[in-house]
Amino acid sequence: MAHVAVVTGASGFIATQLIKQLLEKGYTVRGTVRSTKDERKTEVLHKLAEALPGNLELREADLLKEGSFDDAVAGADFVFHTASPFFNDPEDAQRDLVDPALKGTRNVLNAVIKSKDTVKRVVLTSSVAAVSVTGGKPKNGDRYNEEDWNTGSSVTHEPYRYSKYVAEKEAWTLSKQEGFELVTILPSFVIGPVLGRRQDATSIKALKKIVEGTADTIVNRVIDVRDIARAHILAAELPKASGRYLLSHADTVSIGDVYRELSQRFPQYKYPAFEPEPSKPLYDNSKVQNELGLKLIPVRETLADAANSLYSLGIGTPAHK
Ligand SMILES: NC(=O)c1ccc[n+]([C@@H]2O[C@H](COP(=O)([O-])OP(=O)(O)OC[C@H]3O[C@@H](n4cnc5c(N)ncnc54)[C@H](OP(=O)(O)O)[C@@H]3O)[C@@H](O)[C@H]2O)c1
Repeated sequence: MAHVAVVTGASGFIATQLIKQLLEKGYTVRGTVRSTKDERKTEVLHKLAEALPGNLELREADLLKEGSFDDAVAGADFVFHTASPFFNDPEDAQRDLVDPALKGTRNVLNAVIKSKDTVKRVVLTSSVAAVSVTGGKPKNGDRYNEEDWNTGSSVTHEPYRYSKYVAEKEAWTLSKQEGFELVTILPSFVIGPVLGRRQDATSIKALKKIVEGTADTIVNRVIDVRDIARAHILAAELPKASGRYLLSHADTVSIGDVYRELSQRFPQYKYPAFEPEPSKPLYDNSKVQNELGLKLIPVRETLADAANSLYSLGIGTPAHK
C-alpha cells in the first residue's frame, strides 16, 4: 500500500514542490490548507494530482487551532511540517510570527504524539534562521554548521529568525520527551522554479524582482526548491537520516552574478549591470551531501529554471532590448 504523507501548509512555495515530488513517487498525500475553498491557493495542487500517479487529499487545518491537525495526521506514515509564516515585516511579531510558528509546531506534534503508532518520522522545515543571527559568529571556525543555534534573536530583534529558532527548539524538546523520530531541514534562501501562479510568498516576490531586472541587492546564500523537497523526502525515507541538515550553497550569489547569468541565458532581455562581488561562504553544507547523498543543483541552473517558470507563467516580465 502507498505510504501516507502529511504536508502542512500544502499551498506554500516549498510545500507545492514537495507534494509534486511525493505524488511522482506514488505517495498518498494529505495536504493541509487553511481553506480548501481558496481556489487561488489550491488550483496548482489539484492540477498536480490530476497529472501524477499519487493521490492527494486536502484537509483544513490552522496552526493556531488546537487539535486542528489531528484528523490529517491520524494513521499517516510521515509528517512534513512546512507551514509557518515567512515574512519580515510583521505588524505584531508575537501574534503574526512567533505564535503561529511555535503553537503551530506544538499542535502538529501533538497530533503526531496521538498517532505515534503509525508515524515513522516527522520532518520539520526549519531554517538557517534558527542557526544564526545577522552579524553573529559560528561556534567553531568561520562557517555555521548543524551545531549552531541562533540565540541572538528575540521577539523585538529579527523576529522571523526567532520564530524559527523557538519552533525548532520546541520540536526537539517534544521529540526527546515523547520518543518520536524527528529530522529538521534548514534551508537558506529558497529560489527555483515556481509551479503555480500564486505570487504572495516571500521567495516568489523576491524572485519576481530578480527575473524582472528590478532587484538591486545581493541575493546572498541560496538553495534550489527542488533540492529542499528532495532533502525532505530523503530525510523521511532513509533510516540513517538523523538530526539537523543545513541546506545552502556555500558561496554567495551577488546580484551581479545573477544578472550576468540571466543576460547569457536570455539575450533578448535587458538586465542591469552590477560590479562583481567576492563570495563570502558562510554555511558548511557537507552533512546533507555526505549523509543523504544529495547533490545540489548548480545555482546557474536554478536561476535559469526559475526565470523560465516565471516568464512562462506571466509572473515576471523583463524589459526587451
Ligand atoms: N522560502 C525560503 O527562503 C525559506 C527558507 C528557509 C526556511 N523556510 C521555511 O519553509 C517553510 C515554507 O516556507 P515557504 O517559502 O514555502 O513560504 P510560503 O509559500 O509563504 O508558505 C508558508 C505556508 O505556511 C502556511 N501558514 C502560514 N500561517 C499559517 C496558519 N496560521 N495556519 C496554517 N498555515 C499557515 C501558509 O498558508 P497559506 O497558503 O494559507 O498562506 C503557507 O502554506 C516555512 O516554515 C519557512 O519558514 C523558507
